[in-house]
Amino acid sequence: MLENIKETANFICSKIKTKPEIGIILGTGLGGLVNKINNQEILEYADIPNFPVSTVEGHSGRLIFGELGSKNVAAMQGRFHFYEGYDMKQVTFPVRVMKELNIKYLFVSNASGGVNPDFETGDLMILRDHINLMPNPLLGKNYEELGVRFLDMSEAYSKKLIAVADETAAELGIKVQHGVYVGTTGPTFETPSEYRYFRIIGGDAVGMSTVPEVIVARHSNIPVFAISIITDLGVEGKIIEVSHEEVQKVGAAAEVKMTELIRNMLEKL
Ligand code: HPA
Repeated sequence: MLENIKETANFICSKIKTKPEIGIILGTGLGGLVNKINNQEILEYADIPNFPVSTVEGHSGRLIFGELGSKNVAAMQGRFHFYEGYDMKQVTFPVRVMKELNIKYLFVSNASGGVNPDFETGDLMILRDHINLMPNPLLGKNYEELGVRFLDMSEAYSKKLIAVADETAAELGIKVQHGVYVGTTGPTFETPSEYRYFRIIGGDAVGMSTVPEVIVARHSNIPVFAISIITDLGVEGKIIEVSHEEVQKVGAAAEVKMTELIRNMLEKL
């Protein structure tokens, strides 16, 4: 694994002039951020050695380097989900590579179903913690060069970055919620009983991504900021049929405020 990470990072360094300070995983709601990146240098995942090979046609993904405001960034357009059949080492490999490229912060976005009755569809939720219900990406041999065997998770989501987000959101007049993200494998959405269960165990929202990448970022000692768009509600009395299309539609509608929030946050780092 170590050789693969180094090989991939060396390849990227040989092709790309930008030295990224910030890694961004462009999930639902941040797709539009790509258009704000200046002086872009782009690598297709398919051309990057050791990157997972996409099975879905037309969704290969790209790694985009460039300047977002005053910061150099590396942005993943397209992430790898466990439910697609990738193993957890593949899902999180890009985070290992971004660490090798020396990023100082990781920003992540996603879509999720709200189980907190105070939430509304279209809300942005800053992750203050998570509950992991997926296989842990750190299972198996631990490489001390990458991080510790028994990882502390008392501050999975950087309090400093959350404070910056709160300040920025207030300045921009963007309403934000805070909450605990329950990470499940998917690909099924939840039954009403599962939504209720996730609320009872302390969740505010549930989704199918983010947690593996966050665990590996923390293993790599990278501070993380993650934000979710509540695209549907798993709240008793408000549960309606969910579809991928609906999730995408609500996600797209929240894109402008999410993009502005992140862009302005970077200026404060
Ligand atoms: N459940 C799980 N994942 C999701 C949901 C949901 O309701 N909405 C968007 N991603």
